[in-house]
Amino acid sequence: MPTRSNIVVFAASNSTQSVNQRLVMHAAKMLQGDLAESVKIDVLDLNDYEMPIYSPEREARGIPQLALDFCEKLGAADGVMISFAEHNGSYTAAFKNIFDWSSRIKKQIFQDQPVMLMATSIGPLGGQRVLAAAMGAFPSFGAKITSNFNFGPFSEHFDIKTDSFKTARLAAELRESIIAFHDALPAT
Ligand SMILES: Cc1cc2nc3c(=O)[nH]c(=O)nc-3n(C[C@H](O)[C@H](O)[C@H](O)COP(=O)(O)O)c2cc1C
Repeated sequence: MPTRSNIVVFAASNSTQSVNQRLVMHAAKMLQGDLAESVKIDVLDLNDYEMPIYSPEREARGIPQLALDFCEKLGAADGVMISFAEHNGSYTAAFKNIFDWSSRIKKQIFQDQPVMLMATSIGPLGGQRVLAAAMGAFPSFGAKITSNFNFGPFSEHFDIKTDSFKTARLAAELRESIIAFHDALPAT
């Protein structure tokens, strides 16, 4: 059983009130609490990786250090959990910019690591379209996608006061997704 894995966790959002941050942290705590007590969780905040919008001319002047730092964090991970905010049916600009810069450092951003994808939003589709976009694109960047979890509309299913799920079915589905992710982590 993997015990000392290093898991990188982040919301693909730069909102300081991000509902995806809440969801991904809930998932990380579930992983640590139920399945892998000694797993190390490294939580990234996209606000710490704000950099100029990618352009070929800027790239010719050099890759930002923050993009290199972001890739280094991913490179040190045994697994990655991401929860996507959806803006206009796609990635947030904050995430897309980091993704674009990172892909210019190396195409295989994820180096065959297990990756669990999630999404939630305030809308009725719950980020379904951005989740589908990531499911389609990420394998080309080296992600070994173990599971995907669409939480649906956040406030319908999550109680902020108690920091818990209102909907038992979704708690069970998330657990299944986490088990698949956990089982794909390297044994140590
Ligand atoms: C510019 C913009 C576009 C949005 N587009 C969508 C959308 O396409 N689908 C959706 O479900 N919610 C959309 N929303 C609402 C987001 O779901 C909501 O802001 C949510 O809180 C984002 O997740 P986050 O809190 O993790 O950042 C949009 C919000 C903004 C500001």
